[in-house]
Amino acid sequence: MNRTPESRGAQVYQVSCAGCHGGPAGGTITDQPPKHNANGHTWQHADCELMQMIRDSTTVSVSSRHPLASAMPAFRGRLDDDDIRDVVAYIRTMWTDDQRASQRQLTRERCAG
Ligand code: HEC
Repeated sequence: MNRTPESRGAQVYQVSCAGCHGGPAGGTITDQPPKHNANGHTWQHADCELMQMIRDSTTVSVSSRHPLASAMPAFRGRLDDDDIRDVVAYIRTMWTDDQRASQRQLTRERCAG
């Protein structure tokens, strides 16, 4: 079987994330927990910021912490960096081409390496 990062990430996402963050369709930009699909704002954060958020449940780019923020568990210890990278690859499949291009640019600007 030819498993891609996206398909591995989709499995992790279904098990660990979809219950709170929903799937590829529906929702609005103000939903809490945020939708990761094209209707949310996840694409406005660079890869390293998303990975940090998933690992530690905090990010420098989320300046005003929502009261519900503590509802997001830190996945450090439960998911390794490869899992987290795959989940982000899957999340990217939920965006439009324009959102993907814009997020790629952000990642170049904000993430080292
Ligand atoms: C128990 C519910 C819950 C689960 C499970 C959960 N999250 Fe979250 N997540 C939240 C909440 C609530 C926030 C909003 C935090 C904030 O506003 O500071 C959030 C925020 C985020 C953000 C930053 C906001 C954004 O979208 O730009 C990312 C990225 C994220 N979660 C990814 C994930 C991933 C990937 C998983 C699965 C590995 C996951 N979350 C599992 C509740 C959850």
